[in-house]
Amino acid sequence: MIDQATIEKIFETADIVEVISEFVQLKKAGSNYKGLSPFSNEKTPSFMVSPAKGIYKDFSSGKGGNAVGFLMEIEKLSYPDALRYLARKYNIPIVEKEKTAEEVQQENERESLLVVSAFAQKYFSHNLLESAEGKAIGLKYLTERGIREDIIDKFQLGYSFNERDAFSQEAKKKGYKTDYLTKTGLSIEKNGSLFDRFAGRVMFPIHGISGTVIGFGGRTLRSDKETAKYLNSPESEIYHKSKVLYGLYFAKKAIVNSEICYLVEGYTDVLSMHQAGIENVVASSGTALTVEQIRLIKRFTQNITIIYDGDEAGIKASFRGIDLVLEEGLNVRVLLLPVGEDPDSFSKKHSASELKAFIKENEKDFITFKSQILLKETVNDPVRKANLITDIVRSISVIPQAITRAVYIRECSTMLEVDEKILLSEVQKIRRRQDDAKWVSRTPTPAALDAPAQPMVPSFVDDVYSEHEERDIIYFLLKFANEKLRLPAENNAEISVAEYIIREIQNDNLEFKNLIYKKVFEEINRKIESGGAVEEKTFIFSEDKKISELAVEIYTSRYEISKVWKRKDTFIELPGENLGVEVPKTVLAYKNKIIMIAINELTEKIKNADSETEADKITEIQRQVMNLNEIKRIISKDLGERTIISFMAGIPRSS
Ligand code: CTP
Ligand code: MN
Repeated sequence: MIDQATIEKIFETADIVEVISEFVQLKKAGSNYKGLSPFSNEKTPSFMVSPAKGIYKDFSSGKGGNAVGFLMEIEKLSYPDALRYLARKYNIPIVEKEKTAEEVQQENERESLLVVSAFAQKYFSHNLLESAEGKAIGLKYLTERGIREDIIDKFQLGYSFNERDAFSQEAKKKGYKTDYLTKTGLSIEKNGSLFDRFAGRVMFPIHGISGTVIGFGGRTLRSDKETAKYLNSPESEIYHKSKVLYGLYFAKKAIVNSEICYLVEGYTDVLSMHQAGIENVVASSGTALTVEQIRLIKRFTQNITIIYDGDEAGIKASFRGIDLVLEEGLNVRVLLLPVGEDPDSFSKKHSASELKAFIKENEKDFITFKSQILLKETVNDPVRKANLITDIVRSISVIPQAITRAVYIRECSTMLEVDEKILLSEVQKIRRRQDDAKWVSRTPTPAALDAPAQPMVPSFVDDVYSEHEERDIIYFLLKFANEKLRLPAENNAEISVAEYIIREIQNDNLEFKNLIYKKVFEEINRKIESGGAVEEKTFIFSEDKKISELAVEIYTSRYEISKVWKRKDTFIELPGENLGVEVPKTVLAYKNKIIMIAINELTEKIKNADSETEADKITEIQRQVMNLNEIKRIISKDLGERTIISFMAGIPRSS
């Protein structure tokens, strides 16, 4: 448990722009910052950060909140873990309250796996640099491969002893639970004993996007064919290999600055390129490139250059990569190295500037790339040439942006000497087919059509809950709490919006059904009763993530289009100058809704009552309904009148 004072300190210190910049490329826009939403797959930035308010708002997914909420959202952290992350980042010592045995047991599993991984990384590094075996075997190997000490340090490389349970024994001695050792895959349980997965290997820690160790790759030093060259951590709560790019943590700044990301195949490629001074490089280690990995890159840049070996496998992998990258709307170039070279070997033979020049001169846009590779096989073979054109047209057709497609169509037309119009019509044909395919997959399958129909929703279901109306009131309550309004119906008396709403709700003993709204209402009521002003901060930094999200949503909305205020095509801006009319109307609309709910419930009761034995009861209910209908009539006729309020007291309310 983190104590309240520390939590406040963390909120005060955390700079939301700094925090979010670790995950999203932000550009200044007026007093705010703007970037591509990390939560959706968008092309135009709609993700906003306000340093002044300490909040973010993602207009594409609707998410919004403070720095802590952002971390919870993007890293899937719990509230305390997000606070701890910030405390670490800003060197704020955390004063933990004494934990109960129960709390210790409930320790977040994710956090425990991260702790075990951090321990393992330190242990392996220590082995490599300080132990006799590590130095003689692991470090010797790395040095012979020409990897410099600063790179070994930077990437936190390590060594796992040959002894088959050295790590597991040490970890158990230090008190790490077997459960976490096996869940991270660092240890393997066999017949009740623990063994090291990575025994005798040079260790490459894999870092998450914010620099924590989430997994490992281990390279064997043996050359026999039976031993897999690399072993990687298995999937776990903290490590999902399809969503991780090796080196991204160390590359993200350089990617943003250079506006390009180099994509290579393996661990050693990343290391060697860093060593050569090229830092905007990542690898999809141990897996074929995935869409999730491309989306990770997309947070930082629109441009990817794939750098693979020039062999058969490299070409095949780059072909697959091209279409994936194009589909995500990014620009893709390809650089094939001379056969027999990978970025690792190649960068060792050339200086950084030579390397950069080589990339610049030899990287090719995908049409040129595909054409050159495939044209070699097609000399004077019209059938093969046609196939090549079809292949490239298919790649162009996956590009989401029409303009980019047009540019490529022109390029392809020139390069392959085909009429542009023909290419265009081919691309359109393919795109139409893709749309059709999407459409078909959305229509119900015959099996679904056979499924029994959903039960009929009672016609009054829309009337049993006052969500919209409650929400409208909360909007005014949060956004204009301290603003004064003048009440025409009360001799222009002045009262704050919060005071007015609280008075109106409490006079009639009403209570919000939505528990979040209820909590907000109660908090504001406490503030007002103690004579204080309502501060945005209270809600933005609420430890209840739902409240903080609601507050951000309301504070960042310029217009609130609600049922009450929505006209066909007019958005009514609410700068607050009409509060004297708008707020009472909103409250009235809420009360009106409650009356409607009550009428519906009473009507149901009449329907269900036995007309012979319960005649008296029915008469009584009918009288109530008439009363309510009269109130409703007055409300709809004269929405501004105070007199209605007094009727409210007698309304039976649903339990
Ligand atoms: N890889 C893997 N498992 C293997 C082989 C390869 O996970 N059995 C992954 C590793 O991430 C590796 C990448 O694929 O870095 C590329 O493989 P390769 O080119 O064979 O390895 P290099 O990175 O060149 O490693 P080294 O130079 O140490 O042989
Ligand atoms: Mn290699």
